[in-house]
This record gives sequence, structure tokens and C-alpha cells, in this order.
Amino acid sequence: MKVLVTKKLPGNWISYLSENVEVALWEENYPPPKEWIIDNIRDKDGILITLTERIDKEIIDSAPKLKVISTYSVGFDHIDVEYAKKRGIIITYTPEVLTEATADLIFGLLIAVSRRIVEGDKLIREGKWEISWYPTFMLGSEVYGKTLGLLGMGRIARAVMRRAKGFDMNIIYNSRAPHDVDAKFVDLNTLFSESDFLVIAVDLNTTTYHIVNEEKLKLMKKSSFLINASRGPVIDENALIKALKEGWIRGAALDVFEHEPLPKDSPLISMNNVVLTPHLGSATIETRDKMAEIAVKNLILALRGEKPIYEVR
Ligand code: GLV
Ligand code: GLV
Repeated sequence: MKVLVTKKLPGNWISYLSENVEVALWEENYPPPKEWIIDNIRDKDGILITLTERIDKEIIDSAPKLKVISTYSVGFDHIDVEYAKKRGIIITYTPEVLTEATADLIFGLLIAVSRRIVEGDKLIREGKWEISWYPTFMLGSEVYGKTLGLLGMGRIARAVMRRAKGFDMNIIYNSRAPHDVDAKFVDLNTLFSESDFLVIAVDLNTTTYHIVNEEKLKLMKKSSFLINASRGPVIDENALIKALKEGWIRGAALDVFEHEPLPKDSPLISMNNVVLTPHLGSATIETRDKMAEIAVKNLILALRGEKPIYEVR
């Protein structure tokens, strides 16, 4: 069996894969050009990719032997799942192992933006801490006891919810259907209008694309914050920029963007009420190693005709 791997992985997981199948590896951290994938996938039985490789019809059509697409990610919006399935290709992914790491980052972002942690750090480093302490200096917004709104109620939303309970937050959520969880199901407009902190926890698909738009942002409280570590295109970024500029909401913390890397001329970069991280949701040593193990094992199992650990259904 022959496989194509589009990124180096942490740990010894590429060696482990090589003991089981013949591996062709893209050696750089930046994504391979599409032409490289097309040229190299022709004779391959499987491919192991990350979220920066878009697997579309053209690539699938150039891989007549392809049986498995293993993505090193929980999201699979970068794969034409419908077309791949029509071809009988198995798609595997790495959910669960990154849930807690992502929820930690989301909570970190939430506290960072509301308590102005990054702004405070910047102020000190720029030599602008002039007066030691006074009652109205750099006031942020309280997290404890506030209303947390969750858009989505999947694994990551539940993990954020568990953390929020430690902060005695009032938790409301909206998702396709109500779940049996200790939080209040509300309609979409109520979610936007009542949340003090709105956390995006949905995957990107045709129904969630730009679900956060100008109309929804206008429903939000002027004192509220938006936090997103799912996928950038869930938010209409231009509408969010307008909302932040015009004070419809107090701030935002973003780990994902409509275009990544975030263009260096993005207006978000100069805004003090915004905390930005470069798509780090699952970026812990422990989680990235587990993701490698699962992505590699998923690929080997599926190629052998056995049940992979996680298959996209
Ligand atoms: C990260 O964004 C992932 O989908 O794993
Ligand atoms: C803060 O540092 C306080 O002592 O209130």
C-alpha cells in the first residue's frame, strides 16, 4: 500500500506509518501546492492531510486507487465529503482528543479579552505603565456569574460548559435540536441578545456559513464579547469588524479567520478590544501527539479494511 502525507507529524508517527505502508511525505510546514498533491496522489491508496489541504473533486478524480482520506483535524470542511463518499472513499478524522485543549483555549481567550490581559501585557512592554494603580485603571468585564451563550452543543461546547460552571455562569445555547444538558436551550435570536459571552462551537457547513452576520451582531449587547475558535467563515468577518468599530459589542477573541494566515492589513490587528491567536485550538504537545497517533492508526486500519477509530459518517 502507498500513502501520501502532506505534513510532518510530531513524535515518531511517520516512522510508525512507514513500518506499515510506503510513505511519500511533503517535508515542509507550509502546505504543498495543489499540483504536487495531484502529481503524487495518482498511485496512492491513502492520503493523510491537515486542514490546510483542500481535497476537492479534481484531486479525488486524479487518484483512481484512493481508498482512505485521513485528516489530522476534527474539522472536515476542507474535504469534499459527499464526492469522496460517492467514490466509496473512507474519511477519518481526530475528534475527542482535542476537545479539552480547545475548550481550554476558548476559556483562555474569553478571560483574556474580558480582563484585557493582552492589552495589559502590551502596555507594560511598550513602557506605558506610568501610574502604579488606581480605581479606574484598565477596567475589564467580570466573567464570574455572567451569561455564557454557546452556539452549538457538541463535544467542545460541552467542555466549555463544564469550565463555565466553575465560574457560576448562566449557560444558554442554541443548536439544531435541544440536548439533554444542564443548560437552557434558546432560539438563535435569544442566544445573540442575551449572551454576555457568545462562544462559537459549531462546525463549518452550508448552514453555518456566515451564521454570525450583521443582523445577528446587532442583536448582541453592547457589553458583550464574541469568541471563536471553530472556523473563520462561520462569522462574516467584515460585519464583525464593523460591529467592533462601531461599538455594537465590547470585544472579540478570535483563533480562526476567514483567511488564514490573517492578512497583515486586517483592521482587526489594530483593535485593542480584540485578542487574536493563530489557529491554536488543539495546539498542545499532548493533543497534537495524540492526533498524530489517531490520524496514522485511522489510516492504517481503514486501508486494512478494519474499522478506523473515528470515521466521518
Ligand atoms: C482544527 O481546527 C481542527 O479542525 O482540528
Ligand atoms: C488589588 O491588588 C487589591 O489589593 O485590591
